[in-house]
Amino acid sequence: MLKTKIAVFVSGGGTNLQALIDAAKRGEIPSGEIVLVLSSNETAYALTRAAENGIPSAVVKRKDFPSQLAYEEKMKEILRENGVEMIVLAGFMSILSENFTSAYPKRIINVHPALIPSFCGKGYYGLHVHEAALEYGVKITGATVHYVNEIPDGGEILLQKAVEVLEGDTPEILQRRVMEQAEWILLPKAAELVAKGLQKGN
Ligand code: GAR
Repeated sequence: MLKTKIAVFVSGGGTNLQALIDAAKRGEIPSGEIVLVLSSNETAYALTRAAENGIPSAVVKRKDFPSQLAYEEKMKEILRENGVEMIVLAGFMSILSENFTSAYPKRIINVHPALIPSFCGKGYYGLHVHEAALEYGVKITGATVHYVNEIPDGGEILLQKAVEVLEGDTPEILQRRVMEQAEWILLPKAAELVAKGLQKGN
């Protein structure tokens, strides 16, 4: 059976992209194949990770387009050219509108560094999420992988994993623990789950 063709969208360091690449190398994503890395930013270290692993990449920046629509149409065109069937948002910090998300129903997943519905939605991304969790004083946080629709962090939840907040945590220390204990484990699992489901529908 053919593998589901996956694009991974990134904006920064790309440790979640690395987790996907490593899982695929270990044979843990047998139903999918990463065919493209798309970055919103040309200096993202994630692009180096893609190059080192022989994965083609593209950079598409919102500010190079006159409108959100034109930006998203460009991304759709690149996805079509590469035969992409499924998208994994792995630290992708650019907003996608309904015009884009509705073109890939139940075919886009995202990893969020908190237990949705806590610390999610507009303004909650990257380190800000962990700052907010520490400020609130929660003792448990975690990560969520969910389907992406037009509501920020509002799509159906696929997987979640809890992570303890410890005395003396800084946002950076907590971010690292959530990545190690939750994100890097959940994201490849969810990618395989969705890739497998789409494969059956081929
Ligand atoms: C990750 O913690 C990811 O969950 C978060 O950004 C970080 C990216 O790290 N994503 C969001 O906050 C999206 N709302 P990475 O580039 O090393 O994978």
